[in-house]
Amino acid sequence: MNDIARGLEGIVVAGTRLSHIDGLRGELCIAGFAVDELAPQASFEEVLFLLWNGRLPTAAEADTLTRSLAKHRDLPPATRALLRAAASKGVPAMDALRMGVGTLSLIEMNGNGHGMTKTTVAESLVARIPTIIATYHRMCDGAAAITPDAQLGHVANYLYMLNGEIPDAAQVRALETYFNTVVDHGMNASTFTARVITSTRSDMVSALEGAIGALKGPLHGGAPGPALDMVFEIRRRAEHSGASITAEAETWVREALARGERLMGFGHRVYKVRDPRADVLGTAATRLFADAGDRALYEDACTVEKVVLRVLHEAKPDRKLDTNVEFYTALLLHGIGLPTDLFSPTFAAARAGGWTAHVLEQVDEDRLIRPSATYVGDLGRHWVPVEERV
Ligand code: ACO
Repeated sequence: MNDIARGLEGIVVAGTRLSHIDGLRGELCIAGFAVDELAPQASFEEVLFLLWNGRLPTAAEADTLTRSLAKHRDLPPATRALLRAAASKGVPAMDALRMGVGTLSLIEMNGNGHGMTKTTVAESLVARIPTIIATYHRMCDGAAAITPDAQLGHVANYLYMLNGEIPDAAQVRALETYFNTVVDHGMNASTFTARVITSTRSDMVSALEGAIGALKGPLHGGAPGPALDMVFEIRRRAEHSGASITAEAETWVREALARGERLMGFGHRVYKVRDPRADVLGTAATRLFADAGDRALYEDACTVEKVVLRVLHEAKPDRKLDTNVEFYTALLLHGIGLPTDLFSPTFAAARAGGWTAHVLEQVDEDRLIRPSATYVGDLGRHWVPVEERV
């Protein structure tokens, strides 16, 4: 029997100019730029331009893209109707986002957009995803949707549509740093999904819908909510028992591992050292919490992180498990004021930049992705009529 590459670990399926990960050194570069240099400085529009065009924009090009994205934020009435129906049934936000993105075929026709270049379709989809998320969030809260503000950049407008208030500069910078940090990350599961769909010469709407479905799972983009819940639960227990956060974290983590659970926000398929994105987001979170946030929560989360790492290393000494991006994602997004159920959709809004760029790369590649499987079932079976089966 041929060896089976379970989970396709270590299998190279594409060449990409979009991002490079060194999992042993803990390094990530996005289109040639170290993530810790690019993410805290660039606007999200500049990063989108970089991914879609392979270079940073001039000031005029960045301005043109910003204005073009702002023009594409509206939703078709059918999208709103679908979101309203989903809200009435309490559908989780990621499912509502996946269904909402599906309705964008109403704008993009066959999803490739008749008469539009593929980059224009990418702009149109990336621009509308925050509107879907914010509209759905407000519908679930029984609040009226906020009309997008064309004067605001992509990230600032997302916060505005969520809260109905012009966000302050520190919040926008923190969220923009988050968007830039997670915009692309090699051949992760959702990006691979988008590329597989594109490789069949299907359309960009389908690729993004599939990617959102893949991102939703707790082993991928669904981890930050549970990561923050863990910190809150440990805090709650410490308050109740009067024990320290360290002591309660130790108990909680050991109990979780004894139940065979995975600790959200730790471990990574590629990184065998600390995820460099955790540091970028940790720095952004430190700044945000120092200015306005719940400093005690930040310190408690850092304490929990230390305990988790110590216990994980003790419990699984042969595994190289460290903090991944999701732990600090949770802290940063909470500090910005986003509720837990928006963490994964917000991840999707940022990663849509990478997904669309990979779709464009895959279109150029134009090679069907079709791996093989080793058959491990029975052979030589014979048909038995139903009345003769026991
Ligand atoms: N908590 C406890 N044990 C863990 C964890 C964890 N977070 N991560 C890995 N392990 C253990 C597994 O149980 C397994 O142990 P075993 O062989 O004794 O059964 C072993 O380590 C597997 O290690 P890897 O091969 O390095 O991990 P794998 O590639 O299978 O999984 C994954 C990577 C899915 C991210 C995993 O670390 C995990 O489930 N983490 C928690 C979820 C999470 O944080 N996801 C977000 C990832 S980042 C992102 O997608 C944006």
